Amino acid sequence: MQTWDTIRARRNVRTYEDTAIPAEDLERLLEAARRSPSSMNQQAWDLVVVTERERLHELSRAWRYASHVAVSAATIALVIPASTDPDERETCWYDLGQLTMSIMLAAADLGIGSGHASVGDQRLARTVLGLPDDRECAMLVALGYPADRPLEPISSPDRRPLAEVVHRERWSPGV
Ligand SMILES: Cc1cc2nc3c(=O)[nH]c(=O)nc-3n(C[C@H](O)[C@H](O)[C@H](O)COP(=O)(O)O)c2cc1C
Repeated sequence: MQTWDTIRARRNVRTYEDTAIPAEDLERLLEAARRSPSSMNQQAWDLVVVTERERLHELSRAWRYASHVAVSAATIALVIPASTDPDERETCWYDLGQLTMSIMLAAADLGIGSGHASVGDQRLARTVLGLPDDRECAMLVALGYPADRPLEPISSPDRRPLAEVVHRERWSPGV
């Protein structure tokens, strides 16, 4: 896909075909993540790739809106340091946002759907993933081929109008 088409085609996909993602495509998504920018290039992230069905089921119990993880072809767990420092956490989360979008756009480019899932039960997620004590699972990105409809550019996305979102030069013109 062209980049512009990929940006317009990406959407949260939560139902997936029962088809594995080829290893080289999964590697590309991980490489897309690795190449993401981060504050001071600190790259304070780790990724745990889960493809075993039973583990995906267990992981999906970490959040009430994570059921799509159970039926995904693969889920990438985004792991960050378990810091209590607000500045460090803020930076990590900004970095993870960019990393997530890199994965999602690279996936859409390959016709692979992706869906965020938050993590509510940190203890469960850490146990299922076998994380060390100084790490936490910030977010899950579920992946799989869309079972609802293919990824195609969306002409009218469910978004606030551009004129409402964008302020030109100053918040209020002429003020
Ligand atoms: C920080 C963040 C957390 C999210 N958590 C969940 C989640 O736990 N479960 C879920 O189904 N979707 C989750 N989403 C997906 C959003 O609901 C979705 O991106 C939004 O409704 C816009 O839809 P779209 O991605 O299809 O454009 C999350 C998205 C973000 C950015």
